[in-house]
Amino acid sequence: MSTGDTAFDTDAAHDEAIRAIRTRRSGHNFDADAELDDETLEELIRDAALAPSSYNLQPWEFVAVQDDDRLDEVVELAYGQEHVKEAGTAILVVGHTEPETADRVFDEWVEAGRFDEETGQQVKEQTVAGYQSEQAGRDYGIRNASLAAQNLLLSAHARGLTATPMSGFDFEGMAEFLDLPEDKIPVMLVAVGPSGGEEPERLPRRDVEEILHRETY
Ligand SMILES: Cc1cc2nc3c(=O)[nH]c(=O)nc-3n(C[C@H](O)[C@H](O)[C@H](O)COP(=O)(O)O)c2cc1C
Repeated sequence: MSTGDTAFDTDAAHDEAIRAIRTRRSGHNFDADAELDDETLEELIRDAALAPSSYNLQPWEFVAVQDDDRLDEVVELAYGQEHVKEAGTAILVVGHTEPETADRVFDEWVEAGRFDEETGQQVKEQTVAGYQSEQAGRDYGIRNASLAAQNLLLSAHARGLTATPMSGFDFEGMAEFLDLPEDKIPVMLVAVGPSGGEEPERLPRRDVEEILHRETY
């Protein structure tokens, strides 16, 4: 086990990105007196939305809570995790369980000349069929929106903010509190805000030798 090599490869084409990946932390030390401005919030969401998604369906939404009283409710739904309040902003990353963007997105594939009409239609039908079972719909939502959540975390870190992904909350209660429609599911809560200083050392990561399997498991 190692605590993770935070050195970064200066030969990498995007070495700042490697640095960001290697130094990102799930922080709990927020500056409770500082606020996240609106412009930065929108930039975080813009970066989150640049995550890859299946056929570019972008099956995600983001609910930002910043009102003090509402943050108290979020803390309660997160079983008393006070750092959400100290962060000042809680963003619920929401996943679609239905392919509601399919018509628009497959039109865009065709309009861009990436698919001809017939192929676009076929791929759309296959994609929509893939959402048919409840389990498949949830899997799609969680898989895609989780990537958006990771982009959000890295963007926050790159901007010098602290951010923590959280699934320690009452999913049903949160969905109700934030008025999520029936076909939308909470995927990850991200507490984000200005940093309050250092974080404790990262816990060990499993070694590559332990987790990398070559050719077969
Ligand atoms: C799915 C998931 C759920 C998590 N839930 C919580 C949580 O409820 N509260 C919290 O403080 N941290 C939570 N974390 C953060 C982890 O504790 C953290 O990622 C892990 O300890 C590794 O630390 P690092 O992210 O700083 O490298 C969660 C992380 C993930 C990916």
